Amino acid sequence: MFKCDACGLDDLPTQKMLDLHKERYCSALAVKQVAAPPVKETGFQITQRVGRLEVPKSDPDYFIEDEVAAEIDRVIALTEQTPQNLAVIGPKGTGKTALSLEIAARRGSPTYLANAYSQRSSDEWFGREMVNAEVGTYYEPSLFVEAVETEGATVILNDFALMQNKSVQNGLNDLLDDRVREAWIDPLYHATGKPLRVAAGVLFIATWNEGSEYTGNIKLSANILDRFANRIYMPYPPADTQVEVLSRKTGIDAGNAVRLVKFAESLRQTDEPIDISMRGLLQAAKKMVMGAHIRDALYFTVISGLTTDLQTKALAALEGQYTKVEKEQVATRTPQWRPVSVR
Ligand SMILES: Nc1ncnc2c1ncn2[C@@H]1O[C@H](COP(=O)(O)OP(=O)(O)OP(=O)(O)O)[C@@H](O)[C@H]1O
Ligand SMILES: [Mg+2]
Repeated sequence: MFKCDACGLDDLPTQKMLDLHKERYCSALAVKQVAAPPVKETGFQITQRVGRLEVPKSDPDYFIEDEVAAEIDRVIALTEQTPQNLAVIGPKGTGKTALSLEIAARRGSPTYLANAYSQRSSDEWFGREMVNAEVGTYYEPSLFVEAVETEGATVILNDFALMQNKSVQNGLNDLLDDRVREAWIDPLYHATGKPLRVAAGVLFIATWNEGSEYTGNIKLSANILDRFANRIYMPYPPADTQVEVLSRKTGIDAGNAVRLVKFAESLRQTDEPIDISMRGLLQAAKKMVMGAHIRDALYFTVISGLTTDLQTKALAALEGQYTKVEKEQVATRTPQWRPVSVR
């Protein structure tokens, strides 16, 4: 075996590989960062940055059930002993991602939110090898790798069941395994000869929609789902809490908030439930505050996203929430199409 005198890597089988290692991969011979990659916007409010990671800000209007709050504190305490995995599972738009960010905010920890659906390439997850004329090849860590290696970090695997990339899944499988907690990642191994190791105090939180583990291109293995020993099921908050959330966050009056929530609940609680997300309701409430008719507020947010069959069902359910005046207004409307120039 040949040994690199610069970095100490000692399992290079031939002189030729040693030369190649020194020329292209040796971390000690490479200038680590040529230019820091730009910080990726993750879209949540932050209190501070730790390196390229962000500490999320708590949302004072986020409502949480007492038992869930107590469970979160237990998981946080367990994470101080050894890295933990927590799954947050539930229907569409119940506040799963928001809960994950609240947990990170409660810990005050540097956080990385990886969107499993949009983040597809291995490079985005595990970093990449870069070539620079002066230093040759070197390893550029991804934000995910930076988070995994940061003590006390929270790593959110958002919409985890929509993970597309099988090789990324394999790497995550090892990082999430209590007994392993390290993964052999090609670009990192080439450059440093070391695996990626989960730092102390790291909390992985995966969110996924119930049932949607079948909608990704690659089904998540039972194996990987089984890695999550801590699980929180998130239903929609109770109706009165939803009303309170809508009023606090949008300023909508209580009467209108109640009507929006009643509409949503009437669809969620049928034989074939239709998921109406909190996001959709909040947006409809904002539009009512802007003066929109309740029909338009819901039609251009929640209802238009449904299949035509379900749209008919939703509009029928909405009838039950109209005031007499609103009902007349809808009944007497005739659609008018005009050129934009006359508006
Ligand atoms: N309990 C709650 N208290 C206050 N706001 C909430 C609550 N639940 C959800 N919201 C708000 O509703 C919106 C949608 O929540 P979020 O995106 O977290 O849902 P989700 O379950 O992750 O959705 P999806 O299934 O589409 O990923 C956010 O603006 C969030 O702040
Ligand atoms: Mg989400």
